[in-house]
Formats: sequence, C-alpha cells, structure tokens
Amino acid sequence: MTPASADYTSTDAPATSRVVLGIETSCDETAAAVVRREPSGALSVLSSVVLSQIDAHAAFGGVVPEIAARAHVEAIAPVARRALAEAGMTPSQLDAIAATAGPGLIGGVMVGLSFAKAMAVGLKVPLIAVNHLEGHAVSARLGAACDYPFLLLLVSGGHCQILKVEGIGAMTRLGTTLDDAAGEAFDKIAKVMGLGYPGGPALEALAASGDAERFELPRALLGRAGCDFSFSGLKTAAARMVPLLQGDQDRADLAASVQSAIARQLHDRVERAMRDWPETLARRFVVAGGVAANGCVRARLTALCEAQGFSFHAPPLAYCTDNAAMIAASGLERLVLGLTSPLDAPARPRWPLDEVTAALSPVHRTGRKGARA
Ligand code: KG4
Ligand code: ZN
Repeated sequence: MTPASADYTSTDAPATSRVVLGIETSCDETAAAVVRREPSGALSVLSSVVLSQIDAHAAFGGVVPEIAARAHVEAIAPVARRALAEAGMTPSQLDAIAATAGPGLIGGVMVGLSFAKAMAVGLKVPLIAVNHLEGHAVSARLGAACDYPFLLLLVSGGHCQILKVEGIGAMTRLGTTLDDAAGEAFDKIAKVMGLGYPGGPALEALAASGDAERFELPRALLGRAGCDFSFSGLKTAAARMVPLLQGDQDRADLAASVQSAIARQLHDRVERAMRDWPETLARRFVVAGGVAANGCVRARLTALCEAQGFSFHAPPLAYCTDNAAMIAASGLERLVLGLTSPLDAPARPRWPLDEVTAALSPVHRTGRKGARA
C-alpha cells in the first residue's frame, strides 16, 4: 500500500519520531499495520495489511465467532510479518505494540491482544491496549489534518454513536442506537434481499440504479429531541417488502429507499448535535466507521456540514472499515501521552468509549443481546 501522510501540528510533540505496530482482530478481519508519528504529530502509514475472512463466513450470512477466532489464530503471525516487511522494518525498530483490546468478539480480541503481549515482552517495548472505537475516532487523522475537538459520528456494523471528542480519553457520548447499528441495518436488509455479506457495499451498488423516493419507510425518531438512533423499524418494514418485489427495478428502488432512509436519520441526528454544539468549540465534524464509506451518507453529511458551518472530515476509504492503521494511530497518541498498558490488560467484549455516560444512561440491557458499547 502506498504510504499516506497527514500534516497537523500537536502541542505534545516528542523530540523524535515513533513507530508502532498495530493489531486488529475484533471481528472478521485480521489486520496489522505499521504507522510512524513525526515529532510534528504527522502520521505516516508505512504498511496496512487487512486479511478479510469474508469467504469463511459467507455461507452463514454473518460472522460466526468461533470460525473468526480460529481464523485469527492462523493468520495473525503471517499478517504481522507481512506488515513489517511491507514497511521495510524489523521488529527491533518498533517503539510499542498496540492491539485492539475490545469491544468485539472476545475470541478474536484475545488472539490479537495475546499476540501483541508476546511481542511486547519479547521486544521489551510497551504494550498499548486500544479501544476499537477510539481507533475509529482517530482514523480521520490518517488522511489529513484534523485537530481536536470534533463532533464524531461513529457509524459501523457494530456501533452507531455521536460523540464529542476533545482528545484521547476525553470523549463524551451524545447519542447512541437504541437497537441496531446502521451498518447492521444495511447488512440485515441486504441479507433478506439475497445480496450476501457484508451487505452495505452490495446494497449501495444496487441503489445506484434505483429511485430513492419509490418506497415509504418508517422515519424513526425523526425530529425527536436528543441524538439517539433506531433502525429496527426500518429494517423490519424493508424486510416485509422484499417478498412483494417484482423485478430488478423494484429491488434497486428498495435498495435506494433504504439507503436514503438510513442517510436521512444519520443527517437528522447529527444536525441536532450540531445545533447544540458549544459555541466555544471549533466546528469540526468527523464521520468514521464502515458506513462512512457510503457515498450517499457522505454526500448528505457533507451538505449538512456546509449548511451548519462545520468542516467535514472522513478517513480515506481504506481506513473507514476495520483496519490496524487506526489502532496503531491510537497507540501512537497514547504512547506520546505516556498512556501505556500493563501486560495483564484484559480483553473486553464490551468497552464503552465514554464509560461515565454509558453507566449513567444504560440504553441497553446487559448480556448477550446488549449493544457492544
Ligand atoms: O467499521 P467496520 O468495518 O466494522 C465494525 O466495527 O463494525 O464496519 C463494517 C460495516 C458493515 O456493516 C458494512 O456493511 C458497512 O460497514 N459498510 C457499508 C459500506 N461499506 C461498509 N455500509 C454502507 N455502504 C458502504 N459502502
Ligand atoms: Zn470497526
């Protein structure tokens, strides 16, 4: 992969550049990346390897945790070795090892975190246990300048949240989904339509030739106070329409209507957060996570930013979906702040970015069916 670089200045600049190996294994991608941070704060992705397990899960229409964990065990060492080779680095040149420690499928998280711990011990460098959501939060910085603070829409297969991001460890949740994440809605509707997994990109491709005004879908929470999301009504309504579709144009029209309804809800909730954004804070907006790759979503949010006087930032497409460069970037920010982790850092299936708000306002029940963050 061609190295990407970002120029931005930071007040906490150390005297030398630092290099971190990032490891990501929280879902169905085994990923490793080497990222360098210059004293100025500029980040360069020296390599980013992502091995997708999509084929292993395709027959089941979704990710099977046990299959994922086994596949991570087989892939992690070769993927890490390839990331180092593509970066032209030897392990001894690394300043730290960063790995996703949650939230995610616990079997996979344990594989990546244990591998990172072993490397950190062997190389005598610090371990940095990274929250996967923090990785998405800093991912826009892999492409271009994007200082703190910013308003963040984190929208992926497992998460749909709006956060006020003032820095590492200073992220306040303003809203979250009451049921499904937006990517999950894309995936589930696509599955009912027989589009395969992951459904988001397939549904977007089908929507390109469709009429977004054709089907009326529920407008959950639209215009309602607060910044929470709900996609389950839309998902059920769309799934009920599928058996009634009569041909290719009907299918394209439904795909376009679903995509537009999801984008509309994201737009509505972010608009609310923008209206309440403190006047003392810079008007910067970041959209990150897999659904940030969607052209219709990006276009609506870009227009919203223009209307509300916010600058628009999104990671390069390669760093929207899960990757290890964002984990290394978060690790680098933590490293220069001295925020390294003990070797007994636990793997966490659930790990809210904003633990205070999550504890005070638990919109989800705990247990298997609760939201992962
Ligand atoms: O960030 P990510 O790789 O994993 C999580 O942390 O969840 O996001 C994956 C999600 C999937 O639900 C996938 O369908 C969705 O992002 N996605 C898209 C697009 N590309 C990926 N959704 C809509 N349009 C896309 N182009
Ligand atoms: Zn993710």
